[in-house]
Amino acid sequence: MATEVEEIRGLGHSVKRKEDDRFIRGKGTYIDDITLPGMLHMAILRSPFAHATINSIDTSRAAALPGVVAVVTGELMAQHNLAWMPTLSYDTQAVLATDKVRFQGQEVAAVIAEDPYIAQDALELIDVDYEPLEAIVTPQRALEADAPIIRSDKGDQKDNHIFHWEAGDKEATDAAFAQADVVVSLDTLYPRSHPSPLETCGCVADINPSTGQATIYMTTQAPTLIRTVFALVAGLPEEKIRIVSPDIGGGFGNKVPVYPGYVVATAASLLIGRPVKWIEDRTENLISTGFARDYHMHGELALKHDGTMLGLRASLLADEGAFFADAQPTKFKIGLFHIVSGSYDLPAAFVSGDGAYTNKAPGGVAYRCSFRVTEASYLIERLVQNAAYELGMDPAEIRLKNFIDKDQFPYASPTGFVYDSGDYHRAMELAREKIGYAELRKEQEEARAQGKLYGIGLASFTEVVGAGPHADYDILGLKMNDGAELRIHPTGKAILKISVQTQGQGHETTFAQIVASQIGIQPEDIKVVHGDSDATPFGLGTYASRSTPVSGAATAMVARRVREKAAKIAAHLLEVAEEDIEYAEGVFSVKGAPDKTTKIQDVAMAAYANFPDGMEPGLEAVYYYDPPNLTFPFGTYAVAVEVDPDTGVWTVRRMVAVDDCGVRINPMIVDGQIHGGLTEGFGIAAMEQIAFDDQGNCLGSTFMDYLLPTAWETPRFELHATETPSPHHPIGAKGVGESATVGSPAAFVNAVIDAVAHMGIRNIDMPVTSAKVWDAIQAAQGGA
Ligand code: CDP
Repeated sequence: MATEVEEIRGLGHSVKRKEDDRFIRGKGTYIDDITLPGMLHMAILRSPFAHATINSIDTSRAAALPGVVAVVTGELMAQHNLAWMPTLSYDTQAVLATDKVRFQGQEVAAVIAEDPYIAQDALELIDVDYEPLEAIVTPQRALEADAPIIRSDKGDQKDNHIFHWEAGDKEATDAAFAQADVVVSLDTLYPRSHPSPLETCGCVADINPSTGQATIYMTTQAPTLIRTVFALVAGLPEEKIRIVSPDIGGGFGNKVPVYPGYVVATAASLLIGRPVKWIEDRTENLISTGFARDYHMHGELALKHDGTMLGLRASLLADEGAFFADAQPTKFKIGLFHIVSGSYDLPAAFVSGDGAYTNKAPGGVAYRCSFRVTEASYLIERLVQNAAYELGMDPAEIRLKNFIDKDQFPYASPTGFVYDSGDYHRAMELAREKIGYAELRKEQEEARAQGKLYGIGLASFTEVVGAGPHADYDILGLKMNDGAELRIHPTGKAILKISVQTQGQGHETTFAQIVASQIGIQPEDIKVVHGDSDATPFGLGTYASRSTPVSGAATAMVARRVREKAAKIAAHLLEVAEEDIEYAEGVFSVKGAPDKTTKIQDVAMAAYANFPDGMEPGLEAVYYYDPPNLTFPFGTYAVAVEVDPDTGVWTVRRMVAVDDCGVRINPMIVDGQIHGGLTEGFGIAAMEQIAFDDQGNCLGSTFMDYLLPTAWETPRFELHATETPSPHHPIGAKGVGESATVGSPAAFVNAVIDAVAHMGIRNIDMPVTSAKVWDAIQAAQGGA
């Protein structure tokens, strides 16, 4: 009898998120939920100055407070060679300041106490004698000849310049510009923003003095990478380090770097011999942990009168803060910003970037984007929009004219990428159709005649995700690959262990679906384990939308490896040769005899109970995936806004998003990712900025000052999709987590600019506040 086939809820099924059961019941386990016997609490004293010499630190009053166990300073850390630590970008960062403080909020000392309140109180009893120095708050000032040197600790550092980086062909680009009828240029700042995860950073460091076992519970997006980094940096034996990342309350790149708090808590636990908990508060998170963006950008686009693009120049100045701590692949000093040619068939491009130290917090994290791609996407999409105005063309038409055609893939970009697949024209046509582009343009004209300001903004983005192939991509020398381990139990249930770390993306569901699609076990029967470096294979973790392209691929490959063995067992059970076995939806059958079948569950039992002579028993495998290329999700966003000419307030009337992330594993989860990304993109366009005053005081240190969009401000999003598979990915998927944040800020800003472009306004730097819009209108009208 043929086996009854149950539909497997693998790829393409909107399976409800398995992890939500515990989250919606308030049963998640976050760092602060972890309590260990004998645990102490740590609080960190932070610098009130952006730049100051430390003359002395007197800890005696703090140490005398009852309940205080230890006060740690940079001097004490230095005795253990831990006053400084390496960053992910081959720079050094102070763990606790010794010579100077270099940004407001920098870690100066730490108190370890019996409870968190005593630790906090004791901070006020630490007396630090500071001598303030000039604070440098812009990279332009940092590079002036008379600017004080921020990194005086580095003997060879004679100025505040960190790096220069280039991509593309300068000569070819100059030649292209020489042929141009028109050159459009734009100077713009992509402001410093902050990922602001719901859960702040923290850890519980537990070093057992008798065994030397170090168990560190921490908010990290990359547990196995961090284990190896700890081993390399602290010289601890790697087998004795266990990094546990429980449920992570959002990361968005903020939980990739190693922060001083983790290091001090670990050192304190080692010295004291008791577990030490450190939990950051909201202000600490905002002022001291990994920022995003902060690129001052200049772009030039060379075009023919008919709108044909000939070449692109882009240069940028990166404000890196006091330590160069960007979390990005070693080779790429300005991240993957050289994707700046975007979705366009540009014959020539040249990109350069410089980094400068300033008196601000370090970071440069991949905040819901692949490394620095958001900035690139913003620049090209703003330039293209302005080119349309300059040439009197429709902003959609100029894009359609210059898009890389679907037949041109794989497409070699002028800055060195090979785009895997795409259909940009289709995404644009769908976006135009869904928003009713032609009618909106008519409405816009009518509105203008009545003194109203309507704008339609477009952005057609190309993301680059899934870092990455071993030839070019590493972090601290470790290649950016990921492992997956799959074990099928005798009863046909499975356990999948992965090196990526969910922070809300739903990996426990989608990765089970990937296995389901390959081997036919239902997702609810597959447990997905992550977040424990003792339990999972090595890999570089979750950020920059690399989970699905790299670890998702490893998962598909390991499931195929297990299926190969399962087919051998099925052949044994069905008494045929292996070549005669066919597989579909969890059922192995005999070619030409469809009635002779056996299910994966029966095969699993046989792997332990009835395997052929000479076969190694068991049904499990491990696979490490080294991607042959990155994946290139894309899409077109269309936004319609109304701008109030009297106040500058802009209101989103419609927002249509067309996203293509290749084959969708779970369409519902993808939609959720896009909703989140669009909200973050809107926030950046409209209100988010970590600003500083002239003294380097951080003005965005609370959620009263650093504005995040709530459900109240967030517009309604209308989502649509195309599905262009990635040809090299085992299941055709591309990443999605970040695309919406990458693509949407330009669409929102372009919409506002489109409303006022007829007044000659070509740029308003983000965040596009109503005050800035009003000012621009006044200036354009020659008003006050
Ligand atoms: O690296 P990160 O997890 O941030 O991003 P991602 O790989 O883009 O995936 C975010 C979520 O969307 C994960 O649960 C993915 O498995 C899911 N996804 C999907 O269902 N289909 C895709 N084509 C891409 C992602």
